[in-house]
Amino acid sequence: MNIFVIGSGGREHAIVWKLAKSNKIDKIYCAPGNAGIAEIAQCVDISATDINKLVEFVKNNPIDLTVVGMDDPLMLGIVDTFEKEGLKIFGPRQNAAIIEGSKIFSKELMKKYNIPTAEYAVIEDVVSAKEYINNCEYPVVIKADGLALGKGVLICNTLEEAKEAINTIMIDKKFGDAGNKIVIEEFLTGPEVSVLSFCDGENIIPMVSAQDHKRALDGDKGLNTGGMGTFSPSKYYTEEIHKECIKTIFTPSIKAMKREGRPFRGIMFFGLMLTDKGPKLLEYNARFGDPEAQVVLPRLKTDLVEIFEYAIEGRLNEINIEWDNKATVCVVLASGGYPVKYDKGYEIKGLEIQKQKEDIIVFHAGTKKENNKIVTNGGRVLGITAIGNDINEAREKAYNAVKEVDFSNKHFRSDIGIK
Ligand code: AMP
Ligand code: GLY
Repeated sequence: MNIFVIGSGGREHAIVWKLAKSNKIDKIYCAPGNAGIAEIAQCVDISATDINKLVEFVKNNPIDLTVVGMDDPLMLGIVDTFEKEGLKIFGPRQNAAIIEGSKIFSKELMKKYNIPTAEYAVIEDVVSAKEYINNCEYPVVIKADGLALGKGVLICNTLEEAKEAINTIMIDKKFGDAGNKIVIEEFLTGPEVSVLSFCDGENIIPMVSAQDHKRALDGDKGLNTGGMGTFSPSKYYTEEIHKECIKTIFTPSIKAMKREGRPFRGIMFFGLMLTDKGPKLLEYNARFGDPEAQVVLPRLKTDLVEIFEYAIEGRLNEINIEWDNKATVCVVLASGGYPVKYDKGYEIKGLEIQKQKEDIIVFHAGTKKENNKIVTNGGRVLGITAIGNDINEAREKAYNAVKEVDFSNKHFRSDIGIK
C-alpha cells in the first residue's frame, strides 16, 4: 500500500522511517517533508495546512492512507475534510483535536471527569484577571487558551510577573486570539513525563514513556523551545505509576471524549507531572510529540501500518503492541540563536558515516537539499537518536555521533538523558 504523511519535522521523519520498515508498504509520500525524509519517501511541495491542495493530491495519486503528524492541520479540520471526500486518514477530527487546541476545553474536561490536574480558574477579561492574581499563591502559572507555538505558558513568581504576563497575553495580544481567554493555574512540581498513546475512539494503548528537555540551555536554563532532546524510558515512570495513570488519567480521558460525543481516534499525548500527591495531567496534545516520537518509535517492534489500520477500524483491543527493552536518547542539533533568531543555509557535514552505524538514526527536521548538498533550513535541524542497553550507553553513543555531525553555529544541550 501507499501512505501519505503530512508534516516536515523530526517527528514526521521518525513516522516515515518506521512506516518504511513495514513490508506492507510500497511507497511513501510526504508533504512537505525535508531532506532526510526525501531519502525514503517522495516529498511533495504542498504546505501541511493547505488542505484543499492535499485533498487534490490524494485524489490524483494512488494513496491508500494519510497520516497527519503535526497539530495545525488537525485543528483546521483536515480529518473531517478527508472523511467527507471519502479518503482514509489517521488522526483526530477537529472536535477531538480541541484537547490540544483549547486549554480551557481540556481543563474543563479534566474537571468534569475527575482527572487529576492542577487547580485552575478560567478568566475571560483583564479586570477579573488582575483581581484574581491579587489573591492567589505564588508561583502561579498563566496560560493562553489557544495554540501559541508552545510559548503560551508563563510561570510567574511574583504579582508583578503575573501582571506582566496578563498584559502580554490579554492586552498586547502576543499570541493573537489564542490569548482572548486565559487559564490561571496552581504551580506543580515534580518530574515531567510524556506518555503518547494509540487511540481508536474507544480503546487506548499507551506507548513507552519519554522525557523531554524543553529549555534551550543546559541545566534547564534559557528559553522554552519545541524540545532540545528526549530519552525513553523515564526512570521515574514506574510500573506502579503507569497503572495509576491508566486508571486515573488515560482510560478516563478516552471515555470522557466518547461521552462528550467527540471520540478520539489518533495519537493522544499526555504531558504528566509526577507530584508527591500522585501523577497529574498538565496538558494533552493531539499528535505524536517532537522529539518524543524520535525516541519512542525506534523502540516499537510492532508494524506501525498495522497499528494505524487497527486504530482506524476501531479494533485496537485486538492487537498486541510490543516494545524493545532497550533505551533511546535523542539529542537535537539546533541552529545557534534558536528559538529566537538564527541563520539558515549552512552545509551539514558528517551525515554519511552515521548511516553505517546500526544504533544511530539521524532524524532530519529543518534541512533541505541545495546544489546536491544538505543544508540547514530551520531552528531545530536534526535529532540524533542512539539505541543502547541503558540510557547511559545510548547517551554516550548519541554524543559520539553529535561530535561527528557539524554545521556552522551548531547548538545542542550536553545534558540530555542525565536527569
Ligand atoms: P503545557 O503547554 O501546559 O504543557 O505547559 C508547558 C510547560 O509549562 C510544561 O511542560 C511545564 O514545564 C510547565 N507547566 C505547565 N503547567 C504547569 C503547572 N501547573 N505547574 C508547573 N509547571 C507547569
Ligand atoms: N515535545 C513536546 C511536544 O511535542 O509538544
